[in-house]
Amino acid sequence: MLGRERIEYKTPEQVLAMRRAGLVVADALAAVTEAARPGATTDDLDAVAAEVLRSAGATSSFLGYHGYPKVLCASVGAEVVHGIPGPRALVAGDVLSVDFGAVVDGWHGDSAVTVLVGDAAAHDPADVELVSTTRDALWAGIAALARGAAEGGRLGVVGDAVQDLVELRAAQGRPPLAIVEGYVGHGIGTAMHQAPEVLNHRSRSRGPKLRPGLCVAVEPMLARGGDETEVLDDGWTVVTDDGSTAAHWEHTVALVEGGVWVLTAPDGGAADLAAHGVEVRPLA
Ligand code: MF3
Ligand code: CO
Repeated sequence: MLGRERIEYKTPEQVLAMRRAGLVVADALAAVTEAARPGATTDDLDAVAAEVLRSAGATSSFLGYHGYPKVLCASVGAEVVHGIPGPRALVAGDVLSVDFGAVVDGWHGDSAVTVLVGDAAAHDPADVELVSTTRDALWAGIAALARGAAEGGRLGVVGDAVQDLVELRAAQGRPPLAIVEGYVGHGIGTAMHQAPEVLNHRSRSRGPKLRPGLCVAVEPMLARGGDETEVLDDGWTVVTDDGSTAAHWEHTVALVEGGVWVLTAPDGGAADLAAHGVEVRPLA
């Protein structure tokens, strides 16, 4: 069980090494986002990401992971996570989640974005809301980590913050969204998936104390319908049971003295955390 595994706390030097992996991931996701236009196939996007890895001299966290065949996960519509790139061509209005991981000098970075494909006119307003709320949930979770780190809190503050945000939006009369609880965030470092688990919902189990050197991938997944999922026959693709559209956003975050540094955000999280009144603590 992940819950019983030892946590790999990183030194500041190791966090700096992870930052290099994080920036490769940020570059790749920016290139994939740019390439995610109507007519592009998800295999085209995998090739774009592979080229970023090659030119950076980095390797893939995903390729070969339990036999996973690609460097990117591309999940469209009701696919939540772990969609395998293939010949499918994107169309305007698609909701596309792309998840990517890179290894530099043995250290991993992991991040995901959800892209609305094509012109704004093509998008279902409820999909737009889904994508922006999932992104907001990610940053609410990261801001909670930063505050919790300063206050001696525990990792459970992430799930509290994600669920609070989802419930607040619903209470404001917006279309209710479900938190996909079957998949969670994770510790990350010399492996992509490490202890501890990072829940996206409130839980009585509060998790480990937040202290410098803890590095985690925070990755809320929300769906427009129910929270039940299943895995397709390809053994990977996770879809919502009811066919409702899902979104996924993720960042790799390091706890440092006095707060956090978002390793997979080009600005370290400065802009999005400022919106939460939180100052980011970059090590470089
Ligand atoms: N990056 C995913 C996560 O966020 C895991 C992808 S599994 C893989 O945890 F096999 F596709 F690599
Ligand atoms: Co992850």
